[in-house]
Amino acid sequence: MTDLGRPGPNARRWLVVGSRGMLGSDLVEVLQSAREDVTGLGRDGLDVRDADACLQRVTGFDVVVNGSAYTAVDDAESHESEAFAVNASGAANLARACAASGARLVHVSTDYVFDGTSSEPYGEDAPLAPRSAYGRTKAAGEWAVRAEHDDVLLVRTAWLYGANGRCFPRTIAAALQTRETLEVVDDQVGQPTWTRDLAGLVLSLVRGGAPAGTYHGTSQGRTTWHGFAQQVAVAVGADPARVRPSTSGAQHRAAPRPAFSALAHTALLADVLLERGVRPIGDWRERFTAAAPEVLGAG
Ligand SMILES: NC(=O)c1ccc[n+]([C@@H]2O[C@H](COP(=O)([O-])OP(=O)(O)OC[C@H]3O[C@@H](n4cnc5c(N)ncnc54)[C@H](OP(=O)(O)O)[C@@H]3O)[C@@H](O)[C@H]2O)c1
Repeated sequence: MTDLGRPGPNARRWLVVGSRGMLGSDLVEVLQSAREDVTGLGRDGLDVRDADACLQRVTGFDVVVNGSAYTAVDDAESHESEAFAVNASGAANLARACAASGARLVHVSTDYVFDGTSSEPYGEDAPLAPRSAYGRTKAAGEWAVRAEHDDVLLVRTAWLYGANGRCFPRTIAAALQTRETLEVVDDQVGQPTWTRDLAGLVLSLVRGGAPAGTYHGTSQGRTTWHGFAQQVAVAVGADPARVRPSTSGAQHRAAPRPAFSALAHTALLADVLLERGVRPIGDWRERFTAAAPEVLGAG
């Protein structure tokens, strides 16, 4: 018998909601590997739109992580009320339930709450000015969780990729197998972020007793989708010159994409967190090199 995966003596009781999503599944794995006491619930185990079910299901947990969301950015343009029901009302339901039961809530939000017109990384307290329906519902979720509960770690992330979901690097790697050249937009800037790194950051924030507040959970550095795609080509042994730059104007998508999504990590760099062992995620390129075997090797 091995103790690996069994909760350790100081384990907290974690509930991961939306545990079958790309981030949720890595959260469960990372927390289990760290010997925390983890329960994961998919949508069939807890639908966050059901306020009573939220109250019942969060009881007994120390920490609840909301990995659930309506994430179909283009569909949200024509289904905003459905997106709102999950991203805003559902988040509020969870926050209210956590407030009633005394659990900390880790709520995950997005760069889409900003207008994307900046040329400097967005600070944690930059004004929210979403340009898409998805962004509006996520911004409403931020306001709602703060209104419902005092003990929220609000973690904004962006450009996520992982082994357990449809994501940009896996799409590019597949396309490189069938097409000689690809065109990828070079006029949107962001910070590619591995779901496993974000899960590790959530763990360290909670273990470090981070104060309630807003944190930016993205890699450091920045690139464009074109730059990221070229790095994917390198990872699969293809010539990066096969990935050609194009512009957003050539794309016809229902929802506007932010031109600039880089997030500042000021809150994570506070001395009080550094003293407790919390570290921002590393540079996107170095982290993607580490992630590629797992993310691109997955079926
Ligand atoms: N992906 C990105 O690039 C990105 C960027 C910035 C921020 N984020 C944020 O990061 C978080 C995780 O995103 P992700 O990429 O892991 O998303 P994902 O893979 O789409 O996972 C979302 C999960 O939420 C579940 N869900 C949907 N409606 C629900 C409901 N009513 N009740 C309970 N669960 C429900 C989904 O279940 P089903 O599978 O059954 O539908 C799915 O498993 C979200 O808050 C998202 O807004 C993501």
